Amino acid sequence: MSVQEEMKKRRTFAIISHPDAGKTTLTEKFLLYGNLIRNAGTVKGKKSGKFATSDWMDIEKKRGISVTSSVMNFEYEGLHINILDTPGHEDFSEDTYRTLTAVDSVIMILDGTKGIEAQTLKLFKVCKMRGIPIFTFINKLDREGKDPFDLLKEIEEELGIQTYAMNWPVGMGKRFQGVFDRENDQFIHFSGNEEETRIPNADLENHTELVENEEFQTAYEELELLDEAGEEFDMEAVQEGELTPVYFGSALAPFGVQTFFESFISMAPQPFPRKASGELISPDKEEFSGFIFKIQANMNPAHRDRVAFVRVCSGKFERGMKVTLDRTGKSIKIAQTQQFIASSRETLEEAYAGDIIGIYDPNVYRIGDTLVEGSESFHYEELPQFPPELFKKVTVKNVMKSKQFKKGIEQLVQEGAIQLFRGVRNEEYIIGAVGQLQYDVFEYRMQNEYNVEVMFESIGERLPRWLKEEQVDKSLFDERSLLVKDREENYLALFKNEFSLRWFQDKNADIELIDLFDVNQYSQ
Ligand code: G4P
Repeated sequence: MSVQEEMKKRRTFAIISHPDAGKTTLTEKFLLYGNLIRNAGTVKGKKSGKFATSDWMDIEKKRGISVTSSVMNFEYEGLHINILDTPGHEDFSEDTYRTLTAVDSVIMILDGTKGIEAQTLKLFKVCKMRGIPIFTFINKLDREGKDPFDLLKEIEEELGIQTYAMNWPVGMGKRFQGVFDRENDQFIHFSGNEEETRIPNADLENHTELVENEEFQTAYEELELLDEAGEEFDMEAVQEGELTPVYFGSALAPFGVQTFFESFISMAPQPFPRKASGELISPDKEEFSGFIFKIQANMNPAHRDRVAFVRVCSGKFERGMKVTLDRTGKSIKIAQTQQFIASSRETLEEAYAGDIIGIYDPNVYRIGDTLVEGSESFHYEELPQFPPELFKKVTVKNVMKSKQFKKGIEQLVQEGAIQLFRGVRNEEYIIGAVGQLQYDVFEYRMQNEYNVEVMFESIGERLPRWLKEEQVDKSLFDERSLLVKDREENYLALFKNEFSLRWFQDKNADIELIDLFDVNQYSQ
């Protein structure tokens, strides 16, 4: 098969959700369709180790969660599906965000009883920033949840994205009877077991036993309302991430999952051209290229090896090939590779645009690096800086170890494990993270890899706002608006809360406060 044909088969996506919305349950169903697992419950059995993303780090073992995201792939009806997992635990890390830069589309799961929750919102913002297609699955219809119209409204208002209901639920909770499948003009009946009966809408009048009840009649009227509202399904808007197709169902039942999956993969995009050094690089370009979005250290503590995760963006990757690392211009032969099939890692011989490969990292790669076949050189512009939310001052316990402390921090920062800021007044080290987990990993690695014990002093959750250098007047800032510099020597203020931010802004209306995560700045 040619590079072009292989690329067209790829569907690379991530599932985003708030913990407990049903990501594991839904992923498990997908893996069943792909024959990757035989029994339901395999993924869920995280602690059994079978599907544990990794037991590479003690810290993961201790906490029973995965520190890093994993990758799963399988064939489905001629397509090659790559699912990138994003840690479902509350204290995720920047890796979760970065994973979203390596996918071409996203499934957003909402718990129908709760609607949009904090973690979904954060992850959604990254997707919106990238303008990638987002498909929504509203889960747990077998429970009494929010009104479907209200859920659509919530998505539109809180996320600033249009919705299109692909199906419409009949009842919910104990009275859940199925969904109208708007794509195929049929009613899919939920009988409580795994079988789904499909009845064309035109035949429904012959099924009085199904239609003669209040919920059915109400849903039918709502469906007519939706149809009359006459909003056309706009595929272009989906592809630009401006409209999300919404599906109702239950991952656990399971109900509506296979229809959703099939509809999703029929619309989910194949790899698209990506920007590199100001140009668009097409995924069907013959030469291999890709970028590193994650580095997993200490996979095998005995060897201290590291694996760099590469998103293939063009061409064909073959084991043993020579590539150029754009940052250094050096040529590297890639001999040790891995593909990730859930927890097992196998040597990978070839890969195409859309795939994720793991390459052995003898400590030469950094997050954000681009690899290109041959001597050509360009740089993928994929990895923005994500604004941290938590900040801690960090010091070394034993001052005799200051040298190792600095070296350790420098390396972990380069690797993207944490973000480093320096206080403008006294040069103190302030570490920013998006989740507590990053501090735990940092502390663990400083101790285990650099033999340094660190001490933290939390300065709590902060709202970071970047500043223009010419507008910085140091006397305006205090503890509630801590002035620091990032690695690139840019100034930013860490505001204690919304109140101190507004107070500052009111007093200094001419100072521009830049929010890296302002979704509105990405809307067209
Ligand atoms: P997560 O990965 O997003 O964190 O969620 P997960 O799939 O683990 O699901 C969280 C809980 O919600 C699980 O229950 C799961 O069984 C349940 N769940 C998932 N989908 C549905 C659904 O469609 N309907 C209902 N009613 N429940 C659903 P748990 O009690 O926490 O775990 P378990 O003991 O059932 O495994």
